[in-house]
Amino acid sequence: MLGNLEESYKKLLSNNAEWVSEKLSIDPEYFINHSKGQTPEFMWIGCSDSRVPPSEITKTEKGMIFEQRNIANMVINTDLNLMSVLQYAVDVLKVKHIIVCGHYDCGGVMAAMDTKQNGLVDHWLCNIKDVYIKHKIELDTIIDNQKKVDRLVELNVMEQVYNLAKTATVQKAWKNSHLNIHGWVYDLKTGKIKDLNILMDEITDLEPIYWFHE
Ligand code: CO
Repeated sequence: MLGNLEESYKKLLSNNAEWVSEKLSIDPEYFINHSKGQTPEFMWIGCSDSRVPPSEITKTEKGMIFEQRNIANMVINTDLNLMSVLQYAVDVLKVKHIIVCGHYDCGGVMAAMDTKQNGLVDHWLCNIKDVYIKHKIELDTIIDNQKKVDRLVELNVMEQVYNLAKTATVQKAWKNSHLNIHGWVYDLKTGKIKDLNILMDEITDLEPIYWFHE
């Protein structure tokens, strides 16, 4: 058992050595150039799920996406980690777009729809239960359980976009400059990303809740 563990872990390091050689064979300055700094255009808030790697599914090079991932791509205003990443991304790196990307068949969302005990993670999942309760009327009309999960995944992304809009960092950015927020859902079965087309006007029209007034 231990032997297998060691073998799989060493594979990552040998892969890394291979990857370095490949990159250097194409561009000898590749890593030197990357070490000079980052100017990512996008911030990504996604699920920790190993099957949804942002750079790979968007075919982007490293250096382009500043990312934060957690279970079920949540934006919770007491999450000091996410709030710090957000503030740095917007104020310092000046990203132009923030993408909240959920995914169908999300284990976090499915667990939140259940009453099974999972330990500490249940505290985190409470926030998804809140989304369920908020949209209970719509969700209760969906009989098919798979479709119900899919819809909750979409509603959860929408609610996290709204949560972002409520943060001081985003409101300040909207007042001073240009920043777009997008809600997307990735489909594990097809590899395709669906844009939920959440209109910024819908959010910014909700004055005075979403705007600072002096
Ligand atoms: Co997930």
